[in-house]
Amino acid sequence: MTEQKNPLGLKKIHHVEFYVGNAKQAEFYYRKAFGFSRVAYSGLETGNRETTSYLMRQTNINFVLTTPMGPEHPAAEHIKQHGDGVKDIAFYVEDADHAFNEAVKRGARAVVEPHDLTDANGSVRHAAIGTYGDTIHSLISYNTNNGHNYSGPFLPGFIEQSVEGDPTGIMLVDHIVGNVELGRMNEWCDFYRDVMGFHRYITFDDKDISTEYSALMSIVMSDGQHNIKFPINEPAEGKGGKSQIQEYIDFYRSAGAQHIALLCRDVLHTVQKLQDNGIEFLRVPDEYYEEIPGRVGEIDESIEDLKRLGILVDRDDEGYLLQIFTKPVEDRPTVFFEILQRKGCKGFGKGNFKALFVSIEEEQRRRGNL
Ligand code: FE2
Repeated sequence: MTEQKNPLGLKKIHHVEFYVGNAKQAEFYYRKAFGFSRVAYSGLETGNRETTSYLMRQTNINFVLTTPMGPEHPAAEHIKQHGDGVKDIAFYVEDADHAFNEAVKRGARAVVEPHDLTDANGSVRHAAIGTYGDTIHSLISYNTNNGHNYSGPFLPGFIEQSVEGDPTGIMLVDHIVGNVELGRMNEWCDFYRDVMGFHRYITFDDKDISTEYSALMSIVMSDGQHNIKFPINEPAEGKGGKSQIQEYIDFYRSAGAQHIALLCRDVLHTVQKLQDNGIEFLRVPDEYYEEIPGRVGEIDESIEDLKRLGILVDRDDEGYLLQIFTKPVEDRPTVFFEILQRKGCKGFGKGNFKALFVSIEEEQRRRGNL
């Protein structure tokens, strides 16, 4: 695929904002368990009487944890409906006005009209459009040409507040998966194509992703430069069981972000640290590891190490990847994380779907949701 300029001027993911019931405790979890550092803060002490937000950062990953200070704020309704979850997958764009106007012209739902966000450090330009469920895409630009020069620690309204975490080696958001309602996958893929200028990168049908009980379909949408990859999943008819995607939608009460995949450079080190910190991962049966040499051939890692940590391997024409999935990080079986390392492979672990989904189904069964 040739590189092409994105019609909205999207550059990369600026941050991901979670609406959570208790941002102070979520901050502790992301810092102590995932190894993020707290970098910036917005709350009562900064004059923000609406919400409290913490910016958590690890290398190039920026997570904002936001909680409402009262029931009037829309975040309160979001949490009532969805539990803790991803509200905003925010993009850094060349020009927020252009990105917003172009997106709306192409059919996006306008959520926030372009406006300045300002504090003593300057201002940035911000707008937002809707995507699946109640999830939005903020469009943020720093335009130094017409006075939108910003020198603060994050965004206007935030002050620097440094509380160091012990890094676990996660570095970058690789992809963010959206779960959408039955029959609506193509509609949302068309949205990412027609509005956002993405293209279809990989398609998985229910033959790829089906087990005895449940199934799903998935299309990976990507921007021209493959900086931003958004797989879109929909439930598919299994042999009588409930799709894991439907379980998510039932508990999230709508479409929404299912998992965020975080890239690391040394998955053995990262997963060991995360496990030592108490993060819980899905495990596949031990027999999975006996089949690795035949299925993926030579790899640098010892299979014993992978088995001990529960890490999965898959290969495509260009290399292999190592991946592992956390259990949901809320009480509702909704949002979870993937930790992955790519060694040339551009895929998403298709060869692991079967083993993985058998173990997801086992979890679903224990929750009474299969
Ligand atoms: Fe993934």
